[in-house]
Amino acid sequence: MSSVRGEFSSRFGFIMAAAGSAVGLGNIWGFPTQTASNGGAAFVLVYLILAFCLAYPALMAELVIGRYGQANAVSSLQKLSSKPTHKRFAFFVGFGGIVCAGLILSFYAIVAGWMFSATIEPVTKLVGMPGMTHWLSTQSLGRDLFFTSLFIILTIAIISKGVENGIEKWSKRLMPALLSILFLLIVYVLTQDGASKGLKAYLIPDFSSLLNPDLLVSALGQAFFSLSLGTSVMIIYGSYISKKENLVSLGAYVTLIDVLIAFVAGLLIIPAMYVAQAQGVDIFAADGSLLSEDTLVFQVLPALFNGMGEVGLFVGFAFFALMSIAALTSSISMLEAPVSYAVEKFALKRIQATWIIGALITLVSFTIIFNFNTLFGLVISLTTQFGQPLLGMLCCIFVGWLWNRGTLLKEIESGRPDIAATWFWKIWPWYIKFVCPIAIALVFIHSL
Ligand code: PHE
Repeated sequence: MSSVRGEFSSRFGFIMAAAGSAVGLGNIWGFPTQTASNGGAAFVLVYLILAFCLAYPALMAELVIGRYGQANAVSSLQKLSSKPTHKRFAFFVGFGGIVCAGLILSFYAIVAGWMFSATIEPVTKLVGMPGMTHWLSTQSLGRDLFFTSLFIILTIAIISKGVENGIEKWSKRLMPALLSILFLLIVYVLTQDGASKGLKAYLIPDFSSLLNPDLLVSALGQAFFSLSLGTSVMIIYGSYISKKENLVSLGAYVTLIDVLIAFVAGLLIIPAMYVAQAQGVDIFAADGSLLSEDTLVFQVLPALFNGMGEVGLFVGFAFFALMSIAALTSSISMLEAPVSYAVEKFALKRIQATWIIGALITLVSFTIIFNFNTLFGLVISLTTQFGQPLLGMLCCIFVGWLWNRGTLLKEIESGRPDIAATWFWKIWPWYIKFVCPIAIALVFIHSL
């Protein structure tokens, strides 16, 4: 470790950690189902454009803020300008992001808990524990409380070990595992009856849906969620990157991996839905629209796995293990955002800060579980539809308008001395100043 506050030890380590944050339930579940309900390949096309032209520049803004600040999100933002009003604004954006990350974790942990219990369920079937199988497969308060806590405790265990021995070490183990399971499952599903129909629906665009304005809103929201933007997570991960690294290409790798895995996950989920349909499981509602997302994940796919007999137990296990791993590498980044702030601001030991904040988030999760019908959807839309785009936009405004241009150029130059000669430097500052904030604002206003 080359500094007291921790640093990623290698390029690969950073890429695995940041891609681990980005690749999550949003990619493996959100993207394919959004694609299926928004005109297939037309959505994929719009998503790709938005991810590279809007989300990538916004990701760069957050990474560069963090790497310059070398501190938690609030302090990093406050270093960008010395004006008192700007400092207050910086606090609002940084702290807002931290709260947003904590709130996202509180609902994400519930969903990840479901994934956990669904992972264990096939195992209990295989070893013949019908009572346990029944408990795991029936939604109950007890089950949800147990698995949500278990998931948060695992997240705490990794984060309490710090940047290099916690986040980096585990991301380097879990991400390759995730990729392997994903590819094995795709190979399996694509050899089943009905899969080719799914591939067609996924890959052949229905351009008439491009005219639907909701498509843009969904695609941008999905891109922001997927790249973990507007939650200060990428600011804090940026702060652990060495000054020797080329930030521009690191950000590009993370975006590329994130988009690629979302796309590849679609090759699994959409054909799997059609395979299920070929086996007589309903995937479309009476009006021809797709069944709701949770119906799909917790009814359609399990029905599909059940229909496969013994093999289905293994496939089901692999599928939900994949979801659980994807969730874990994302949740550690969500917890790191508030923990890094608490450690630096209140001079707490990392282990203390991690347990205290972990406990607080568990309390919020429990509150959501107890008031599921009112709170679950509310917290999701508050954070992902409002918080993330708004805070992401404010980060762009910070970098584009309030930060001294010369200092910004110097920060990006660090690790990339020829940056001023590249197309990135010719386009990006202009982008971050005008295009990103205006585009995000427009989409945001439309979504209201
Ligand atoms: N990007 C993650 C996903 O796609 C979710 C996430 C959001 C992670 C915000 C961190 C911060 O599932």
